[in-house]
Amino acid sequence: MNIQENISLKKYNTFGIHVNAKRFVSIDSLYGLQQLLKKEQDIFLISGGSNMLLTKNIEKLVVHLNLKGISIDRENHNDIYLTVNAGENWHEFVLWCVSQNYGGIENLSLIPGNVGTCPIQNIGAYGVEVKDTITRVEAIDIKTGKLIEFSNTECKFGYRNSIFKNEAKGKYIITSVSFQLTKSEHKLNTSYGAIETELTSKKITNPTIKDVSDAVIAIRQSKLPDPKKIGNSGSFFKNPVISKEHFDKLQSKYPNIPSYVISDTEIKVPAGWLIEQSGFKGKRFGEYGIHEKQALVLVNYGDATGKEIYELAQEIQNTIKNKFDINLEIEVNVI
Ligand code: EPU
Repeated sequence: MNIQENISLKKYNTFGIHVNAKRFVSIDSLYGLQQLLKKEQDIFLISGGSNMLLTKNIEKLVVHLNLKGISIDRENHNDIYLTVNAGENWHEFVLWCVSQNYGGIENLSLIPGNVGTCPIQNIGAYGVEVKDTITRVEAIDIKTGKLIEFSNTECKFGYRNSIFKNEAKGKYIITSVSFQLTKSEHKLNTSYGAIETELTSKKITNPTIKDVSDAVIAIRQSKLPDPKKIGNSGSFFKNPVISKEHFDKLQSKYPNIPSYVISDTEIKVPAGWLIEQSGFKGKRFGEYGIHEKQALVLVNYGDATGKEIYELAQEIQNTIKNKFDINLEIEVNVI
């Protein structure tokens, strides 16, 4: 086990923020992880680093989780059951599934991060959430070093939420995720407006999962920054849910406000729209700012600090509160 000292975490987080890790170790086997946990339990885990904003140096031992491998558990005529180790890159896994004609996660193409973190925030895009395909999550209990399983129900999935963001937070290390995908009779989800538009523009009337994946990739590339070029963590805030009463008031003032009905009494409003209406979209402050094509994404142009980005996020939250009386909740983990 090679513990290194004073390592920059810049290349381990998609925001590209430089903070110092006092001690750092990369782990590529379950056995290695269990051995490590016998000696060290006060650790800071980093996997794909795609959903965190680092605002300070890390004093704890940083454990970079690099468990690789995909195995087929079983299959029948219609479905395939796979287990994927936590350190596999999410998008590469999606592309591999599409190439094998395994359906269910094609709408989740090009989402940054690793497979092991996809259940934590229940990644979602274009009408699909990863919870719809997850059958089981395997994790190590940090205290005991024992492997335990969470069924789909036990994960308590919600919108950008799960047990791993709540009562299980900090207690477990997710080591693998199991999925049920389709081999035939794929249930395509193309109802999200932008997908339909993209398919129509390509004159595709009977799409395959590859067509859907390609469409999603094209849409994401047209409005979301590539973390390899501009540091970011995807949507920085959650889309807020407000009361119907509150929404009606806003709509009379802003007739074009977009919305999604959640229930008879609740309406979800896109945070990107609220932020754009507040004049933040595309604003740049030196090394950081708000993306020019999607106001929900905060960006690091190179050498921003996490503290600067966090302060910008707070300024946005205060402005939205004053203008719309809405509390914007931060979606990424602020460390
Ligand atoms: N909008 C604006 N201005 C903006 C951005 C959006 O007015 O700058 C409006 C759009 O015109 C549209 C509405 O907001 O009417 C929704 O926009 P979009 O389709 O881009 O989706 P979103 O609600 O902003 C969510 C997810 C994204 C996901 C997309 C597509 C959250 C927090 N974000 O964004 O997820 O890709 O839907 O499904 O739910 C992520 O979590 O990192 C992420 C990128």
